[in-house]
Amino acid sequence: MAVFPNSHDLSGLPPDAIAAAAHVLAAGGLVAFPTETVYGLGADATSPEAVAKIYAAKGRPQFNPLISHVFSLEAAEREGLFTPEARRLSEAFWPGPLTLILPRAPGGTVCDLACAGLATVGLRIPAHPIALALLRAFGRPVAAPSANRSGRISPTQAADVAADLGATVHILDGGRCAVGVESTIVACLEGAVSLLRPGGLSVEAIEAVLGHPLDQTPAKGIQAPGMLASHYAPNAALRLNAADLRAGEAGLDFGGALANASLDLSPGGDLQEAAANLYRYLRALDARGAKTIAVAAIPDKGLGAAINDRLRRAAAPRG
Ligand code: TXA
Ligand code: MG
Repeated sequence: MAVFPNSHDLSGLPPDAIAAAAHVLAAGGLVAFPTETVYGLGADATSPEAVAKIYAAKGRPQFNPLISHVFSLEAAEREGLFTPEARRLSEAFWPGPLTLILPRAPGGTVCDLACAGLATVGLRIPAHPIALALLRAFGRPVAAPSANRSGRISPTQAADVAADLGATVHILDGGRCAVGVESTIVACLEGAVSLLRPGGLSVEAIEAVLGHPLDQTPAKGIQAPGMLASHYAPNAALRLNAADLRAGEAGLDFGGALANASLDLSPGGDLQEAAANLYRYLRALDARGAKTIAVAAIPDKGLGAAINDRLRRAAAPRG
């Protein structure tokens, strides 16, 4: 395993770290890399053999389509057909925590396996200097789900990746992810714009650019498997909207509402800070052996919608 020093930019990486990682990708291998949302487990999106290694490493059902990460709008336009609304969203929010689901473009290079055989492709330009440097050096789309074993909490620091995926994975260490929850997924298909997964970009911000509300009725047929009821699960059970702590519970607080909580996602009640801390704190309470984590109520606006979505899935009965 190659783990490089902590850094929020490229300055902490050895000079050849990006080139070495791009070489691993070109040879059909896997590279875990930081994005602004969570760490991704990347492979050459154009190679089914390389993409298959992602599914194997994650222990993930093969029918889940993956997000293909690209360096530029031009590269995205080679892979997906942009509706006028998709174009406006990409111009407003890329690079950033937004994934667009688009019809696959004729001549696109992302392989069928990365799209799980669908006629659509998931595309994103991540806002992280290491991710962008890697994408630029590699020059092809990189398919990357979150770098955790399937059904587990997404990693927001390099140590979480190593804990989940072990010693075989090549990791670029970019420190902690600033956003901390996965990208917001929006499908732009046949004139309709619909929310498939709340995430690091708020619905309010997207609607402000569109000038109309997003379709939030659960999409049929293009369901994102990140919507499986039990997903993003820690080992501990979760009790949501807790007003107090019961015997033996560890408390995960927000805004100082719970007495005797172990950790507070944001003592000042800041939803962005809470999102950035969410997975790391759930992992930390798990590591302490908590049987049940009682979580304080989180306001359901802005990034709170994504936080509550992940908490509900983590609290769901395990399948
Ligand atoms: O922030 C993120 O989105 C992170 C970083 C690494 O970019 N990635 C991530 O990937 O969360 P993953 O694989 O854990 O979640 C990707 C979601 C899945 O729920 C998948 O089903 C959905 O994107 N998806 C990808 N392509 C799709 C498509 N063509 N149609 C419907 N859903 C798609
Ligand atoms: Mg994931």
